[in-house]
Amino acid sequence: MKNWQIVETALAVPQRVVTNDQLSRLMDTSDEWIRSRTGIKRRHISQGENTSVLASRVARQLLRQSGWSADQLDLIIVATMSPDAYTPSTAAIVQGQIGASNAACFDLSAACSGFVYALTVAAGMLQLPGYEHAMVIGSEVLSKLVDWHDRSTAVLFGDGAGGVLLGPSRQGTVLAQQLNTFGELSDKIVAGHTIANTAFPHPLTGLTPFAMDGRGVYTFATHQVPRSIRAAAEQAGVTLDQIGAFLLHQANARIIKQVAKRLGQPLAKFPLNIDEYGNTSAASEAILLAECAARGIIHRGDIIALAGFGGGLTTATMILKY
Ligand code: ACO
Repeated sequence: MKNWQIVETALAVPQRVVTNDQLSRLMDTSDEWIRSRTGIKRRHISQGENTSVLASRVARQLLRQSGWSADQLDLIIVATMSPDAYTPSTAAIVQGQIGASNAACFDLSAACSGFVYALTVAAGMLQLPGYEHAMVIGSEVLSKLVDWHDRSTAVLFGDGAGGVLLGPSRQGTVLAQQLNTFGELSDKIVAGHTIANTAFPHPLTGLTPFAMDGRGVYTFATHQVPRSIRAAAEQAGVTLDQIGAFLLHQANARIIKQVAKRLGQPLAKFPLNIDEYGNTSAASEAILLAECAARGIIHRGDIIALAGFGGGLTTATMILKY
């Protein structure tokens, strides 16, 4: 068994900030409704930066912080549900941008669970010969997929990217992981649906915007996320009390509070940054992780849980020693 650890963390968000008040001028909503229902105060929205641009910013930042050269990287995975294109992968664009010519690169699509799914895949690949240094990035420009007249979804999402460098260590890092998919609920969150036409030939059709069963996802998350975390803790052989911080996907502060309650854990162990960024899907836990590391909220050696949930529907928990 080869051991690895999270060597560095970093984040990048667009400069433009859009407040709830600004949204209330575009649609029938209010700062009060958005804050009280979700905890979101503002979000960062792309000014033309695509998903690969934000991901490349994170990648460069990670290399600067670590002192690694790009050609040391053996693997780059970008978790995203808003790639620049069907092909090339966003990870391949990042590779080209930073010159990581030795890295195998691909995108991973598991919506808001994507970062934990990607970490799990990277953890597996780091066991293979020839893989020692990996970069895992969650990057989203969800503003591309939002219908800015649909108040039921538009107020929820933001753009951003976060990532980690993984490298060799003396101690093991991953204590447990639980990945689950609920394909029978695949219609609960849909974005970028493509339509296969019956007519031939036919004009190119666009992608559909976000559509979500908000209530259904809320109920799903508040039940399945505690289940996933408990199963991972049991697999890891740790009690919930031994977990120093629960870094949950930032979809809704109310969901996180409910999860904390169901787990019987103090809310103080669930850091929140949804007020600043909204829901950034696969980027959300990576951004949170980078902020928690930078602000000393988590420390080396702490046992932490990363837990995502979202489109698929999916849930994903990883318990690791930071
Ligand atoms: N502003 C004002 N009113 C609104 C807005 C808005 N932005 N959106 C909806 N409303 C109205 C509705 O029309 C409804 O009005 P009505 O009672 O007159 O019909 C009322 O507010 C209540 O609407 P609900 O949808 O029942 O509101 P709810 O309290 O359930 O909150 C929310 C909605 C915030 C979406 C919540 O259900 C939620 O967070 N769900 C989970 C979403 C989630 O976690 N997604 C993560 C996955 S995303 C991914 O994977 C990419």
